[in-house]
Amino acid sequence: MINRLIAQVLPYMPEKLIWQFSKRYIAGETIDSGIEVSRKLNDDGIDVTIDLLGEFITNLEQAEAYKNSYLEIIERFTSEKIRGNFSLKPSMFGLLIDTEVCYMHIRQIVQKAQECNSFVRIDMEDSQCVDEEIKLFKRLKKEFSGHIGLVVQAYLRRTMNDLTHLNHEMSNGHPLNFRLCKGIYVEPKEIAYKEYQSVRDHYLEDLDYMFRHKIAVGIATHDKYLVDKAIELINKYQVPKEMYEFQMLHGVTPELRQSIVDQGHRMRVYVPFGKEWFGYSTRRLKENPKIASHIINALFCKG
Ligand code: FDA
Repeated sequence: MINRLIAQVLPYMPEKLIWQFSKRYIAGETIDSGIEVSRKLNDDGIDVTIDLLGEFITNLEQAEAYKNSYLEIIERFTSEKIRGNFSLKPSMFGLLIDTEVCYMHIRQIVQKAQECNSFVRIDMEDSQCVDEEIKLFKRLKKEFSGHIGLVVQAYLRRTMNDLTHLNHEMSNGHPLNFRLCKGIYVEPKEIAYKEYQSVRDHYLEDLDYMFRHKIAVGIATHDKYLVDKAIELINKYQVPKEMYEFQMLHGVTPELRQSIVDQGHRMRVYVPFGKEWFGYSTRRLKENPKIASHIINALFCKG
């Protein structure tokens, strides 16, 4: 209740105040800020995935501009020798306006990543985007096999079915590569598991399936329970290091992150940056009011 109230009020607060909590999670507004944060993480033995902020555009000129920004980002991060890859949200390229235009933009970005020997991950957005994002992934995977990956959300009831289909249809050639997360959007109970433990249980079922079917997986979570269970599964199936990595968001649970690195597992941090940080932060809040308590801690509690 209090979280919901805070989430509603925060968007009307001054940007400077919102920045006080956002700066923990967002590298900054510019490519240089993204490079600086990424370099520090690289120095600590952590890889990154770079995300330019922006989503759900309303006209296709924005899509063209975002495409050009991504091409520049890939160029810069490659020439600066940052150890990392790239994440993007298809709604930023017009997925909900014109799927073909969106595909052509993302295709160019993945082609650039391939030229730079890198990799692009399609983030999974809310449920209205899931079918189209899977289609997009399938098309790109055929052309850019080892350079494209997708995110799947454990809270969606459909996910195990999607995994099974994708595995049967696309397992020839380079292994499939998915990021597994709980899912951040507020979805109706008809399509999504709502209970906290139930989402965890399905997360582990999905992970177990991926390990058994030799799908490369980014284990994206800050939930220690899931981290411990994932490590149990890694040991049980003797999963080779190149077939999994842990992934966390920049600024979240750094102690848990370090303990995973100390145990010798690969870690990748999601580093968002860009001018759209204000809209991004406040939208995330509306979608997931539970984050509000983290914000209050960040604003008012030292350390
Ligand atoms: P949970 O929310 O239970 O958090 C576990 C603990 O982590 C909390 O108790 C708290 O201590 C800490 N914590 C979590 N979030 C915090 C925060 N913001 N600030 C401070 N502490 C925090 N979702 C999606 O729908 N599509 C996507 O493409 C992605 N992509 C993605 C990439 C990566 C690298 C990560 C880590 C996450 C995503 N997500 C995502 C978000 C994901 O679906 C999920 O909403 C969050 O990771 C939170 O879920 P946890 O598994 O961390 O558990």
